Amino acid sequence: MLPGPEVDLTGFPADCDAFGHLNHAACLALFERARWELFQRGPGMDVFSRNGAWPAVRKLSMDYHAPAAPGDVLRFQTALTHHGRTSFTLRQTARRPADDRVIATGEVTFVCVDREGHPVPVPIEASAFLTMGPLDGAVRRYTVNGVRLPVSVAGEGPAILFIHGYPLNRAIWRHQIEHLEGWLRIAPDLRGMGEADAPDLGYSMSTYAGDLAALLDALGVERVVLCGLSMGGYIAFEFLRRWRERVRGLILMDTRAEADSAEGRRARDLAAQTAREHGAAAIADAMLPKLLLDPEPHPGSVADEVRRMIRATPVAGIAGALAAMRDRPDSTPLLSTLEGIPTLVLLGEDDRITPLASARLMAETVPGARLVVIDDAGHVPCLEAPAATTGAIGEFLATLTGRA
Ligand code: MLT
Repeated sequence: MLPGPEVDLTGFPADCDAFGHLNHAACLALFERARWELFQRGPGMDVFSRNGAWPAVRKLSMDYHAPAAPGDVLRFQTALTHHGRTSFTLRQTARRPADDRVIATGEVTFVCVDREGHPVPVPIEASAFLTMGPLDGAVRRYTVNGVRLPVSVAGEGPAILFIHGYPLNRAIWRHQIEHLEGWLRIAPDLRGMGEADAPDLGYSMSTYAGDLAALLDALGVERVVLCGLSMGGYIAFEFLRRWRERVRGLILMDTRAEADSAEGRRARDLAAQTAREHGAAAIADAMLPKLLLDPEPHPGSVADEVRRMIRATPVAGIAGALAAMRDRPDSTPLLSTLEGIPTLVLLGEDDRITPLASARLMAETVPGARLVVIDDAGHVPCLEAPAATTGAIGEFLATLTGRA
């Protein structure tokens, strides 16, 4: 919910009436200014216009509680009170810190419209900023293999299953879930991450893949395009080993086919120990600089969101995923056998976790595969460069249509 939602603004003489009181319309203008200031600190003031939507005021109410004078500094606080598909409501308070008096309160409801004035969905970037959480279509909950998994499901058509990485959750796919029209988009939280159940034991690539196959059964989906980010790619390989006939296409994003080296395996155990002793926050601190091109967690930034995501991951899920990654088999022998499965390899150009050489190996070994490098992104391009990533996936999916 609106990170850092306090904005200080000063009332000027030109804003006041003949008695030196802040004029009601000038006060209203300050409320508006405070809102834009917040967006400027977050995704930018052009977050609406660059997404082809404009937040038109639908309803507004104000209460004026006390007079303010020229030179008074007013502190504006803003909170989201409602978020719908095309509309949202903000509640604002202007307080004078000098004497802690509430000067005015207001509530504004906006409807996003396109240039013709038709209601359109609140842009996903704006939603993410307003809610600081996933806004990713309908969430359903399925119990598979004894664990309850929340699943974002959107659209209709051939299915694409998004598999997130470690230690993240389905929220990383929200741009793709929102925009890949013409496809049934499915993004679960893996066991132990996000809002999924986190059993103490029993984590392996085989368990994760088994959960996903059972989930597809529950959804009545027979064949899918798999799109796995990093650990999600390791799970996709396992899925392919067991249910290849269910896979109609493959997207390998910032992942690799090789197993861990001996040193890598030791690092997994050390990380699990860190998580058990110091909690998920320590994992977030250690991972953030490696995960993202811009790892500074400014309010409203991708880094801020990812840090929250990691901090919210149960320790059992972190330790389980680390063990599963440590013990995963080498999938390079699988690559050359994937003839007939259209494959796209994606890589953030500044990924510090997945080497370009690993991405090239996959693209060169899977018959017919293509490599696309996403500019201005690290290890999580679906969040860091969402439009470019969704565009690359969309182009790939378009080549599959009619190939079921
Ligand atoms: C991930 O993003 O899933 C992990 O960084 C993968 C790994 O550590 O091998």
